[in-house]
Amino acid sequence: MTQTPRADIGVIGGSGFYSFLDGVERVRVDTPFGEPSDEVALGELDGRRVAFLARHGQGHRFPPHRVPYRANLWALRSLGVRQVLAPCAVGSLRPELGPGTVVVPDQVVDRTWGREHTVYDQIGPVAHVAFADPYCPRGRAAVLAASQDRAAGAATDGGTLVVINGPRFSTRAESQWHQAASWDVVGMTGMPEASIARELAMCLTSVCLVTDHDAGVEAGEHVTHDEVLRVFADNIEGLKTLLRSTIAALPEPEADDTATCSCRRVLDGLQLPIE
Ligand code: ADE
Repeated sequence: MTQTPRADIGVIGGSGFYSFLDGVERVRVDTPFGEPSDEVALGELDGRRVAFLARHGQGHRFPPHRVPYRANLWALRSLGVRQVLAPCAVGSLRPELGPGTVVVPDQVVDRTWGREHTVYDQIGPVAHVAFADPYCPRGRAAVLAASQDRAAGAATDGGTLVVINGPRFSTRAESQWHQAASWDVVGMTGMPEASIARELAMCLTSVCLVTDHDAGVEAGEHVTHDEVLRVFADNIEGLKTLLRSTIAALPEPEADDTATCSCRRVLDGLQLPIE
């Protein structure tokens, strides 16, 4: 009998990331919430076991509001992953955060609707997990430290990511409202990805690559999908390098067990039917 391979670090990103793992084995995983967006690719990176999952699936077939977030996180967790890095494209709400900038947010505002946003409505106990600090402090620290050598400039430490439902971009008024609220970047996939990770007691770090200035920032301009794709493609190699150095800097799983971050403690006392 062959054993299912395992990993302790997960990356959920665009399909451009496949090539950054060595010795990849692809596994199909089923979950109580159906299939994840794609097979999970498990491999090694600098001696660490890493699982990669393409958020939008093969041929980018899931738009942001249809990504099976619950199945994606559950699949990674069932393979052993407790630390997730989640790169994504975002628009900037601040003139000084230009295309190519990486932002490591420390807060999120959820403006999505109609998405399956919790694992606690079909299985297990009723749980109300703490989410005041949505991102893993150790994951964030690892990305920020790794970004110090980044050719395109160190990542911005902190900021608020507002997640809209999409798939359309914001109107100028919505964008100006997001700016007036002092939010920093806007994306479409950050939620409920982050909150479901927390519900499964997984650490998650959002790594936001700015691809454009959102509608309200520069009057006269508007965002196009082509522009987002082009800037993301131009920056993908740099982003992969950043994630590689981050993975090397993350604590080993043994150290993780005694870690002080609270992400993994939110379910203490509750039995999740996944162990
Ligand atoms: N992803 C990339 N750019 C974006 C924008 N301006 N708004 C929402 N999601 C985005």
